[in-house]
Amino acid sequence: MDDIVRSAPNRPWVDAANGTVEREAFVGEDVFRLELDRIFHRLWIFVAHVSEIPGRGDYVVRTMGRVPVIAVRGSDGEVRVLLNSCRHRGTKLCRGEAGNARHFVCPYHGWSYAIDGGLITTSYDEHLPPDMDKADWGLVPAPRVEIYKGLVFAAWDPGVPPLPDYLGDIAWYLDALFWRTPEGMEVLAPPHRWRVRANWKIGALNFIGDSQHVRTTHAGPIALDKVRSERDGFYVQGGDSFQVVTDDGHGCTLTYLAPGMPERNYLTHPPGLRDAYADTLGPDRLAMLHHLRVMVGNVFPNFSFIESQVALGEKAVIVRQWQPLSGTEMEVLSWVLAEREAAAEYKDRALRHGFHNFGAAGVFEQDDLELWASATQASDNPIARRFPYSFHSSLPFDDAPIDNAKGPGRSYKPSNTEVAQFAFMQRWDAAMQG
Ligand code: FES
Ligand SMILES: [Fe+2]
Repeated sequence: MDDIVRSAPNRPWVDAANGTVEREAFVGEDVFRLELDRIFHRLWIFVAHVSEIPGRGDYVVRTMGRVPVIAVRGSDGEVRVLLNSCRHRGTKLCRGEAGNARHFVCPYHGWSYAIDGGLITTSYDEHLPPDMDKADWGLVPAPRVEIYKGLVFAAWDPGVPPLPDYLGDIAWYLDALFWRTPEGMEVLAPPHRWRVRANWKIGALNFIGDSQHVRTTHAGPIALDKVRSERDGFYVQGGDSFQVVTDDGHGCTLTYLAPGMPERNYLTHPPGLRDAYADTLGPDRLAMLHHLRVMVGNVFPNFSFIESQVALGEKAVIVRQWQPLSGTEMEVLSWVLAEREAAAEYKDRALRHGFHNFGAAGVFEQDDLELWASATQASDNPIARRFPYSFHSSLPFDDAPIDNAKGPGRSYKPSNTEVAQFAFMQRWDAAMQG
């Protein structure tokens, strides 16, 4: 078999009819470079939550694919996303992860920029030719920045559709996590960040709908939790559980407990906010949240979210980003959020439990990360690459969405098939074909 042909960019990696995906998609450096071009430097990419940069001059430093950016609130109150690279020789301006700036000064030769990106001075302005217009030499802004329910996304292709159009039906589900009270959510602490020697898509697939891994990957925590598990059937999936696929490769999975489980095993929301939920979400989404155990999903390409019960009576809303570093390595960012209106004591517990389960040293991370890395390492050789991955357990369900869905998009039962994962891969393949 010709490995050079198999690794050539632009070939279809996904075989939709047969339910397989070429391993090259998960390890190839050519594939990674094409992903940057066709996906990360083109489509809407999450950069920050508005609550991270509430005041003028507040900024966070992030990455979109390989592009370092500063998300900053300008003196006019607008959020801008600026290329974090000096216009003189390209030096990175902002080194810290977050802060408040009155202007950005380059550490190399001292060019300085206003927080809206405009060039203030080169520090040797008297040496500039008279026809050089400083207005042309500000920090490069991302041409598109939009905010959906507190989530700031940016794109480097000015022609991308408006963010609400791009999100489409998944927005209905995002609202249930990110805007269910009049004031919306806030980030409770700076994100945890860590590196994993695994392809970024494994994280996205895991969150969009990989219910099958829980019993094996997380057998440890489940065993530790054995008393409760056995007594209450804690890990039994209720028949209401379903998976959603929406256009553009977005999706999510909602897991409910089996009927008859004690009330305390379901998500409990901040006391005093239930009426606000009803008013803000309306009856359909409120019904969707009723007796929910876990809601987990992904917006294409690399924005993931999960609301999970993390201890009896405790829950946390987590945002995840899978930031590619190469074909075989990613940086993970993880934020914990809570309703702005929630009591300080509730937020403390949400933060503690959120990072305990889903932070860099989180209980579930320890299980997942070793396996994700081993999947990438064991696939990254010419022999393994000849043999595709199996997504067969989506095929019997792909064409059979259920009729009585709780929300928009195409819903599938049971919730532990691989329909959403395979839909993500087909969307990815279409994007890669350009
Ligand atoms: S590289 Fe920034 S001032 Fe020279
Ligand atoms: Fe997991």
